[in-house]
Amino acid sequence: MRGAPRRSDSASAVIVARVRIGVLTGGGDCPGLNAVIRAIVRKGVDRYGHAIVGFRDGWRGVLENSFEELTIESTRGILPRGGTILGSSRTNPLKDDGGLARVRENMRGLHIDGLIAIGGEDTLGAASRLYESGLPIMGVPKTIDNDIGATDMTFGFDTAVQVATDAIDRLHTTAESHHRILVVEVMGRHAGWIALHAGLAGGADVILIPERPFDIDDVCRLLRRRHSRGRYFSIVVVAEGATPSEGTMEVASGPEDEFGHARLGGIGQRLEHEIESRTGVETRATVLGHIQRGGTPTAFDRVLATRLGIAAIDAAGDSRWGTMPALRGMRVELVQLADAVRELRTVPPEDYALAESFFG
Ligand code: F6P
Repeated sequence: MRGAPRRSDSASAVIVARVRIGVLTGGGDCPGLNAVIRAIVRKGVDRYGHAIVGFRDGWRGVLENSFEELTIESTRGILPRGGTILGSSRTNPLKDDGGLARVRENMRGLHIDGLIAIGGEDTLGAASRLYESGLPIMGVPKTIDNDIGATDMTFGFDTAVQVATDAIDRLHTTAESHHRILVVEVMGRHAGWIALHAGLAGGADVILIPERPFDIDDVCRLLRRRHSRGRYFSIVVVAEGATPSEGTMEVASGPEDEFGHARLGGIGQRLEHEIESRTGVETRATVLGHIQRGGTPTAFDRVLATRLGIAAIDAAGDSRWGTMPALRGMRVELVQLADAVRELRTVPPEDYALAESFFG
């Protein structure tokens, strides 16, 4: 589809109209999104002569026809900027019956030849279903959670791990000064990748992840053992989605978003009280929250995001709709979007077993 001429109404005149590629950023934002946008625009406009149409605030922009033309000038200087110049949302285009028709109608009305959806499991899940319904759509994987299938890593993850690690390093000094147990709650939704990597990098004494429900008695036993060895402070890193074993501790559930995800958070505070009351050691909790999603991307994330953006605009030029550029080892390869969204990529037992070598 590279610059394919579009016939005018009268067959005699061929108006060579530029191919128009739409792009959107959906779901939780993360550092690196602007690097993808920049790559798509730079190569799409400069090398292929396409017009790039940026839809605002994820799928909401497509449903509401809220968009802006992205040019090389309008995307200058965004490589190191966190967040997304297009804005994002957790709008689900298929939540209401008329969603598919609205997306199809608005893409057609704007003469969009194809759409690149940059997002996580929900944004890409919607993209996959819209593609299956016949729309020219592909995805680019994005999330700090690192939980998208068919790709070895997502951009946003490295930056979140670095932010969390820096925080854990800082918490070490205050925990040691006060002989306290510091509980650090990190993001990751239903995958423990951020907790595992930031816990390993930060030298945590216990790491709790959703993939391995925990027994609070075991946690306290590990902490007592560490203190019995004269190490009178500890760091516990807990993923927001970590859950206690059945019947050991009650945790509350928050309101749901348009994709049915309950808002997570609060396990850190619960552990603060449970650990302090069971061990008698002063315990404090810190919730890192959205600081893990903010600020400038690391060099690794800038490069990965740029590579994915180039692969996406190349694939769009070849009309490879229904695909997603993925990191496989150190190579970027196209995979089927349906394979990427089939199931979450979670922490395998052997990775957690490695971390357990350092517990207690
Ligand atoms: O998916 C990324 C993520 O940061 C999760 O780790 C977290 O649970 C969720 O988004 C928070 O969503 P929101 O920013 O809508 O509160």
